[in-house]
Amino acid sequence: CGIVGVLGTHEVAPLILESLKRLEYRGYDSAGIATVNTGRLDRRRAVGKLINLSDLLVHEPLAGKAGIGHTRWATHGEANVKNAHPHSSGPVTVVHNGIIENFRTLREELASVGLGHETDTDTETIALLTRHLMEQGMDPEAAVRETLARLDGAFALAFIFEGHDDLMIGARKGSPLAVGWGDGEMYLGSDAIALAPMTDRITYLDEGDWVVLTRGGATFYDFAGNRVNRDVSVIRLDQTRVDKGGHRHFMAKEIAEQPSVLGAGLAFHLSPDGKTIAFPPEVDFRGIDRVTMVACGTGHYATQVAKYWFEQIAGLPCDTDIASEFRYREPVLSDKGMGIFVSQSGETADTLAALRYVDGKLSRTVGVVNVSTSSIARESDVALPILAGPEISVASTKGFTAQLLVLLLLALKAAHDRGRLDDAGLAEKLAELRMLPGILAQALDRESEIEALAHKISSAKDVLFLGRGVMYPLALEAALKLKELSYIHAEGYASGELKHGPIALIDEVMPVVVLAPRDALYDKTVSNMQEVMARLGKVILISDRKGLDEAGKVWGTLTMPNVPSLIAPIVYAVPAQMLAYHTALARGTDVDQPRNLAKSVTVE
Ligand code: G6P
Repeated sequence: CGIVGVLGTHEVAPLILESLKRLEYRGYDSAGIATVNTGRLDRRRAVGKLINLSDLLVHEPLAGKAGIGHTRWATHGEANVKNAHPHSSGPVTVVHNGIIENFRTLREELASVGLGHETDTDTETIALLTRHLMEQGMDPEAAVRETLARLDGAFALAFIFEGHDDLMIGARKGSPLAVGWGDGEMYLGSDAIALAPMTDRITYLDEGDWVVLTRGGATFYDFAGNRVNRDVSVIRLDQTRVDKGGHRHFMAKEIAEQPSVLGAGLAFHLSPDGKTIAFPPEVDFRGIDRVTMVACGTGHYATQVAKYWFEQIAGLPCDTDIASEFRYREPVLSDKGMGIFVSQSGETADTLAALRYVDGKLSRTVGVVNVSTSSIARESDVALPILAGPEISVASTKGFTAQLLVLLLLALKAAHDRGRLDDAGLAEKLAELRMLPGILAQALDRESEIEALAHKISSAKDVLFLGRGVMYPLALEAALKLKELSYIHAEGYASGELKHGPIALIDEVMPVVVLAPRDALYDKTVSNMQEVMARLGKVILISDRKGLDEAGKVWGTLTMPNVPSLIAPIVYAVPAQMLAYHTALARGTDVDQPRNLAKSVTVE
């Protein structure tokens, strides 16, 4: 969910709405705004995308110079108006991102003093508890402090109060929250992107912090209630630009940006002569006996590709895990191990929890993140930025390839540190990486061929993606992209595994997309493809010219540029993305904000 709060000098509803638009990537099941206007609390809420709230505000404007807003990704309670934030009770209105784990106990306790719930949410419990404490004579500050002490779980909160036009209280435990400094105005927001139109001066709350805001400034407290100082940082506004740059969708823009994004990544992480890797000194693989990589979603597939790289190039044993599984399966960790935590947003609750779980159990932790001010960036021993720039489309594209680039550099660094690659060998590999921007641009040129393929698969109910080696995790990512964008059911399989089950699905209807560059495994993948065709399956082959020529006749083809094997997974991500994009266009689904998803999931 996304949170914003403004203590302003003008009407705040339009400002809050603007900021919520920038936070919509965090969820778009419902949205709402509350204000305090000459002491009175009022609110407007609407189900679905922000446009519905915006329409409502036209008919029922909301006055006030202080207010809070929220865009929701539903956890407790269906996405209806009743469950939409802000939640109010008596003199308290609150917005919340996260989950309150002990809300059932608190609910019963409040019911026993006559404070019943009207909604299904855990957030209403917070409003009721704070109200209860205020009714016992506490002022808002004391009541919030006491409330926070009683809440278990993860949350970011923003409160406003009846009768207090110049007061807003924010709190952070487990979910990010930032304070923005204006001229005679103060702000709260889930991230700097939300606040960018209003200010570039930001203070990030530390874990457990809470803050009391007036228009005159902010007073910070730590969890124990001690007054603390927190630094103000000036953010780079170019890092917060969010426009479509002439493209029809953010996703199209972000796909197209990949050559320049990877170019920037290479320029940043390589020495000026391009022959060595310029990571901070802590990224040292000497003495490391194992790499453990943890991520969610697309980031997880990036780590699965990287596992092949770490083991093949660096000879380093490597585990990959889905973050939500990792910390509960009691993984065996080595104190000589390195943990790599991959997250575009740097805020995904499962990945952050996994990072905290390994604290002290590994030799060191590396965060591979896009948002350099994020929790994962700040809490890992070293943060390596992927430098993709803001990624707004919910489905990750440039984030994925930029993650792959940094992971490949890590694997090469490991090979060099461990003596598997000498200086010349490393320089040679890096020369291949430096071909990436050019080759990605060639891959992007295949748009019309891809449109034709997308048309072919747009009426399918199911699609299978096959790959071997590094192309196997890519098949998984291709399937994920297709299902999240087009709602077509898709699965990725290791080509060799096809015969052990999924081959039962092959018929004359289901498209099977085979990712097979002409590499060492090509012949084996093509054999698996023949097994599909022998059963009249509809094969779409994505390969280079030579690969396509050797494969014979298939139902559909996509010609890729010739690519060195080392960088092939990065390049083959592009057609996977474009295929999903064009299929979504053909089916008329919501490309940038697919149903039920959120870009940054800050609950476990
Ligand atoms: C959400 C998004 C995915 C993303 C995953 C991990 O589920 O919808 O696209 O891959 O979170 O996000 P992260 O920010 O940690 O990379």
